[in-house]
Amino acid sequence: MKRDFLQITDFSQDEIVGLFELAKELKDKTKQGITHHILKGQTLAMLFQKPSTRTRVSFEVGMYQLGGHGLYLSPAEVGLGKRESVADVARVLSRFNDGIMARVFGHDIVEGLAKYADVPVINGLSDLAHPCQILGDMLTVIEHKGKYSDLKVAYIGDGNNVANSWINLAARLPFTLYIGCPNGYEPDQQLLNNAEAQGLSEIKIVSDPVEAVKDADVVYTDVWASMGQEEEAAVREKVFQPYQVNSKLLSSADKECIVLHCLPAHRGSEITDEVMDGPHSVVFDEAENRLHIQKAILVKLMAK
Ligand code: CP
Ligand code: NVA
Repeated sequence: MKRDFLQITDFSQDEIVGLFELAKELKDKTKQGITHHILKGQTLAMLFQKPSTRTRVSFEVGMYQLGGHGLYLSPAEVGLGKRESVADVARVLSRFNDGIMARVFGHDIVEGLAKYADVPVINGLSDLAHPCQILGDMLTVIEHKGKYSDLKVAYIGDGNNVANSWINLAARLPFTLYIGCPNGYEPDQQLLNNAEAQGLSEIKIVSDPVEAVKDADVVYTDVWASMGQEEEAAVREKVFQPYQVNSKLLSSADKECIVLHCLPAHRGSEITDEVMDGPHSVVFDEAENRLHIQKAILVKLMAK
């Protein structure tokens, strides 16, 4: 039976650890120029309702490196739910392709695609979750810290799709997760309840950014206004000011901490140049790892 990847919790702990191992193997092969056409002749339909650089390029390059092909379908072309229903788009794309990756607004859209598609559906970001991103992020943490447990991860800023996926990861892997966000901008309560019910990780939502980053091994931030929230940007710019990841805030973290940002960054807002370009930053390793982790996800879901 086909499997989808809409949220990190769709995979078990063993499967997630297996994805990290496979991603490393595929990354090593890529660096050594060793051909690995595991998805030879297969195609991935890539549906976008929102803009993208990393997601589009890493999936397209990833499919090529795996011996297949990724087809970019822009927002204007398909008109998901407008020109044609989500269900019919899923049915039609399943007749041509071996997999579907979709970047959407409402999470119900990617769930609808998964329900009606005969092929695996991958969430390339929804308003609720960004699972590929956070698996790639933890791969980056493993590369720099040598482990995924016994770590404090501090997510500073908006309780958005990226924060939600960190919570989902904490439901599967044991680590300490602090989310420092303003009141009224907390992450999804249902995902939080689910992660807490797993009892694997310590998860705290706090409004004090200094408390959140205190002794953290990993400091993470994301934009204050996500795609689709452009009209709120001016208000958010003011509300989130105390949550800027700058040198002063970073001085409360562990001396050996690494700084991550899923990108694109609004330099001077959620993160300063000196932090993003400074010695703790691993943001471009992180961006590259989108390629390697997604190849592992594609192989897991699509290899015949
Ligand atoms: N981090 C990320 O998903 O980047 P894009 O929006 O450019 O795809
Ligand atoms: N939270 C951001 C992530 C971008 C990769 C957004 O949804 O726009």
